[in-house]
Amino acid sequence: MVKHTVLVTGGAGYIGSHACVELLQSGYPVVVVDNLSNSKSESLARVEKITGKPLSFYQADIRDRKSLAEIFSKEPIRTVMHFAGLKAVGESCEQPLNYYHNNVYGTMVLAEVMAEAKVRQLVFSSSATVYGESASVQYSENSPLGPINPYGRSKAMIEDILRDLSAADKIIRAKLPWKIALLRYFNPIGAHESGLIGEDPNGIPNNLMPYVLQVAIGKLAQLPVFGNDYPTRDGTGIRDYIHVVDLVKGHLKAIEALESEKFASGGCRAYNLGAGRGYSVLEIIEAFKRVTGRKVNYKIVPRRAGDLAECFANPELALKELNWKVEKKLDDMIADSWNWQCKNPQGYA
Ligand code: NAD
Ligand code: WQD
Repeated sequence: MVKHTVLVTGGAGYIGSHACVELLQSGYPVVVVDNLSNSKSESLARVEKITGKPLSFYQADIRDRKSLAEIFSKEPIRTVMHFAGLKAVGESCEQPLNYYHNNVYGTMVLAEVMAEAKVRQLVFSSSATVYGESASVQYSENSPLGPINPYGRSKAMIEDILRDLSAADKIIRAKLPWKIALLRYFNPIGAHESGLIGEDPNGIPNNLMPYVLQVAIGKLAQLPVFGNDYPTRDGTGIRDYIHVVDLVKGHLKAIEALESEKFASGGCRAYNLGAGRGYSVLEIIEAFKRVTGRKVNYKIVPRRAGDLAECFANPELALKELNWKVEKKLDDMIADSWNWQCKNPQGYA
């Protein structure tokens, strides 16, 4: 397959920077657009260091139609990987308009500019958060949707918009149909094995692994474990953790699928990207001690509002249609997270 130029929106962020590494290493020229609202351009300098290859960076907001159109006119973009957006669940409840504006409106502007530039190939960062409570704790792509916070609803709305765009192609018999992969991530953790790029949260982390890392390194005193009275094997919440490098490899497999016969007449399909097995909070703490030798000081506190007891992926569709499955184990995820934390105790600062 000829390696064409990929626009990575949000490419300076945690997952986007790892995607840039994987794309460059696989021979794709990379163009990044990021407004640096939740990242630093240093991550992109590190991407170039890891790969020994340059990328083009534009500091711009995806809602800025003029700047975005200029990028599309200058660069020979064929696929867009769309990571740009806001992602904190709690913040989305406090600032719903900001989340809908960044995520939903931002994606609409991007899609409009893509359509004008005749670029119709899109890999979108969706989330397992789009699923609703269901009878089964293992989620398949056809499990019922029902997000319960503005962040999750922004992802579900974007999925609807992109499905509608693709459906319209059939009605208007589009010559150049949309080819869209909606990738529903479970819980990405880990970092590139070099320890040069990783997750650099602002302030006190919301998510489990960054919190564990900051307790282990002494920046935070104690991990709050949100509830030990769930109907799970040890009472704590179970999630499907996935190494960020496995995750971004799934995006490259998605590009290959979009370029293949499978999508010859266009389409918009959702795929779970997860390992298909879950670990509890206490299992993560235990594994962390085994892998790093560091004991994580923790305290059981009441449940966090909105948390499910257990949630993990059925990843069979991604295996069947994208030829993708996770390769890394929990120990790799922990070792790589810890390596990044130790080498960058202050993140990119
Ligand atoms: P991140 O915040 O590290 O990266 C997002 C990047 O987008 C940042 O660099 C930010 O500066 C940029 N950005 C935000 N709004 C923008 C805008 N309007 N214009 C241009 N750039 C903008 O987050 P991440 O963890 O790398 O997540 C990437 C994507 O994956 C997001 O869409 C997120 O919702 C989705 N996702 C993340 C997770 C997770 O747990 N990390 C899980 C599921 C889905
Ligand atoms: C994992 C487990 C917590 C922190 C979130 C978003 C989701 C997606 C991924 C973007 C749960 C427990 C956590 C802590 C704890 N992001 N926990 N103490 O909630 O599964 O998913 O990130 O799309 O949308 O909701 O991930 O890492 O926050 O929590 O006990 O300090 O760890 O209760 O069981 P979550 P998480």
